[in-house]
Amino acid sequence: MTAPVDHAAVGLSATEALRVRVQRGDGVADYVVPRRANQTVLDVVTEIQRDQDPTLAYRFACRVGMCGSCGMTVNGRPRWTCRTRVAAVAPDGVLTLEPLRNLPVVKDLAVDMEPFFEKWRRAHGYFEPGENPPDDFATVAPSSPARQEVDAGIECINCGVCYAACDLVTWNPDYLGPAALNRAWTLVNDVRDRDRDRLVAVAGDAGCHSCHSHMSCTEHCPKGLSPTFSIAGLKRETGKAALRRFWRRG
Ligand code: SF4
Ligand code: SF4
Ligand code: FES
Repeated sequence: MTAPVDHAAVGLSATEALRVRVQRGDGVADYVVPRRANQTVLDVVTEIQRDQDPTLAYRFACRVGMCGSCGMTVNGRPRWTCRTRVAAVAPDGVLTLEPLRNLPVVKDLAVDMEPFFEKWRRAHGYFEPGENPPDDFATVAPSSPARQEVDAGIECINCGVCYAACDLVTWNPDYLGPAALNRAWTLVNDVRDRDRDRLVAVAGDAGCHSCHSHMSCTEHCPKGLSPTFSIAGLKRETGKAALRRFWRRG
């Protein structure tokens, strides 16, 4: 598939033009877009959709690195596109855009995040206040070890970039994946949370012990989080919980 772009009419020199190849369904489409100062990858996709091809599908919302909806594969690497500058990732003026890996494609660059969030549910990645939560605010010292563990993982924006970067998810689609496990770890360390089954939920065959610790999630996370570190914490705590169960039985 080729986009309806008139290259001659664009009239740009090689240094002014950005050549963009976009995965669309089973084919690709090629576009030429003017290079601009401080241009982001999301700017490029938006310009194509508005000026050249309104049928191009992609997703974004905030444009400022908060909502986590603009993830794509950019020149072979998963990235958030609203905060990725073209100059940093395509110095030669060539951009290849594909949907995020490891998720079903809805259309073009838009993926279905349902399997990703289903794993958050499986990992009990939600706060459980218990039957009778206290009326008053809980006091949690910022310097407490548990609070610091939470702080290290809490800024996740659910972008799915780590999930797309994880080869284990590719090999085993049942694997809970780095984001859901990172979220579970923040809740394990939340002193207000009353879920007693979360460690069991993350310890199964497709859980934290499957992780190969090869750090791809940590390397790609745009928020600078380390799901690998969180998963190591879960491995430790699930191991201790299994031992406690064993000694209780004995
Ligand atoms: S460290 Fe674990 S979760 Fe992260 S990319 Fe590797 S296998 Fe996946
Ligand atoms: S851990 Fe990082 S890469 Fe993974 S979903 Fe959260 S913000 Fe995105
Ligand atoms: S559009 Fe919201 S994080 Fe990129």
